[in-house]
Amino acid sequence: MDLPIRPRRNRKSAGVRALTRETLLSAGDFVLPLFLHDLEVDEPIESMPGCTRWSLDGLVKEAGEALALGIPAVVLFPAIEDSLKTKKAEECFNAEGLVPRAIRALKAAHPDLQVMTDVALDPYNIDGHDGLVEEGEILNDETVEVLCKQAVCQAEAGADIIAPSDMMDGRVAALREALDAAGYEKVSICSYTAKYASAYYGPFRGALGSAPKAGDKKTYQLDPANRREALRELMLDEEEGADMVMVKPAGAYLDIIRDVRDNTTLPVAAYQVSGEYLMIKSASADGWVNEEAVMMESLIAIKRAGADFVLTYFAKNAAKVLRR
Ligand code: PBG
Repeated sequence: MDLPIRPRRNRKSAGVRALTRETLLSAGDFVLPLFLHDLEVDEPIESMPGCTRWSLDGLVKEAGEALALGIPAVVLFPAIEDSLKTKKAEECFNAEGLVPRAIRALKAAHPDLQVMTDVALDPYNIDGHDGLVEEGEILNDETVEVLCKQAVCQAEAGADIIAPSDMMDGRVAALREALDAAGYEKVSICSYTAKYASAYYGPFRGALGSAPKAGDKKTYQLDPANRREALRELMLDEEEGADMVMVKPAGAYLDIIRDVRDNTTLPVAAYQVSGEYLMIKSASADGWVNEEAVMMESLIAIKRAGADFVLTYFAKNAAKVLRR
């Protein structure tokens, strides 16, 4: 063939492929989500093989290992005892509660580790919803007031980044104001800007026993069919003062990550959620796909779509692969 242009020349060797590679992954791109409970034992999570509900000691050790691998941040998800759950979720702003104690322990042991905390009520209220529930309705403004107390309590304990995952309207502005009023103007807000009402959260709710008791989350989380709505949320979160914006889930929402990337100068995060993790884990368990290869491909795809950093249960495994 008389072919002067041969794209394969740029793929001819590992060296040329390295030179021409457009997207790079590094351990610095990852946030490791960690589950914790108020028990002395570390307990494997049945619905998420390879993940653990940590005791405080186990949590500190695990976070230390992540940090040593170059992972700059963790995000905390507590399993709260049923006896502490109430209609109004008051435990979420108990200064001696599980999350504040965990933040203090983590920051004492690893001052450089960035501790990100989840702001939402589902682990704390008896309804299992991210907001307060009254007669089947998820209350917006009343919920935001509680979220502000939760965030200030986390900031007081030493959280570096507050990540509201609740999807209530107006919460970013309210959180910014509450944090600033309490003297925490250095605490960042990473908003779950486009969090979809997704079936991919199933294993996570199993891990925390936080599934909604009744109904679903469709009146607050976004409809998976929608793109423009994500941009509307983005505009609001920017105006309200978010420092970072997130898309969640990641793998089935790469177009949304790209849309958000193209419409903001803010850092964009993406959350590779429990169902995405489990799908890769179970497809590779009996050898149908290569776990390591699919893990790395899924992460590079999320970054290529436009994410600056990724919340992923694979963070430590992927960081180990990148070290080789
Ligand atoms: C709830 C919350 C959820 C996740 C993170 N925060 C579940 C939900 O919205 O029901 C899901 C994370 C995952 O599936 O890995 N505030």
